[in-house]
Amino acid sequence: MMKNVLSFQKMKMKNKKIVMLTAYDYPSAKYAEIANVDVLLVGDTLGMVVLGYENTLQVTLDDIIYHTKAVRRGAKNTFIIADMPFGSYHISDEETRKNAIRLITETGANAVKLEGGSENRLATIKTIRSISDCEIPVVAHLGLTPQSINSIGGYKIQGKKDAQYQQILQQAIDVEKAGAFMLVLEAIPEKLGKEISENISIPTVGIGAGKYTDGQVLVYHDILGMSDFQPKFVKKYANLEELISNKIGEYCDDVKSEKFPQKENIYYPIED
Ligand code: KIV
Repeated sequence: MMKNVLSFQKMKMKNKKIVMLTAYDYPSAKYAEIANVDVLLVGDTLGMVVLGYENTLQVTLDDIIYHTKAVRRGAKNTFIIADMPFGSYHISDEETRKNAIRLITETGANAVKLEGGSENRLATIKTIRSISDCEIPVVAHLGLTPQSINSIGGYKIQGKKDAQYQQILQQAIDVEKAGAFMLVLEAIPEKLGKEISENISIPTVGIGAGKYTDGQVLVYHDILGMSDFQPKFVKKYANLEELISNKIGEYCDDVKSEKFPQKENIYYPIED
């Protein structure tokens, strides 16, 4: 049965860890559902691991819609969160709501996620409230917020110094009050991940936030060894890049040496 916002709340209360994984297309979603992942995130990391951009900033709403539709086809029974890409919730309240509604109605996603860094904190709180008022479940994202790389000066661990530590703790309390039902915490000290998780009642899902968050999220291509980006917080469970390129190499060799196709791969006319 598909989980819902109440299931995640219950999992937190019962100390059952939430497993979130990103997915971007039909096969990745299908494999994740077979593996019983609790929740799929169609993240804007799409830009880096699937579309080959340097960062997430060029991903468009239409990109997320296109990929979320494929993810829904691959995982019909899994709760799906669609990321709101850079620019899709920054212009006006009306446009933000319209974009959040498109993500839900056009894709079959169950919730949206948006990043709220320190620079745009007040705007983010208003935005979470406004989207929640449309009955759309919202996941907040604090700590390192990759859509802010130009204003924060790169991919830096957040909350190491006390002032920023306290600021992120306060933001977590604020996003819960604004109506977020889940909070992604990225690249922060474990102590802060723990303190936030103990001080808010919505589930926290960490990526580089230590082991005390209510769940963990990682990027599909990172855990399977299909991306160039391997930060400390990633555990690589396979090296598919090597496996896939070796196997494609075998296919190339077979064609060139005429080992492929073989009899079993060839059609023949029916003999009377
Ligand atoms: O875009 C994404 O995939 C994310 C995760 C890294 C949490 O936001």
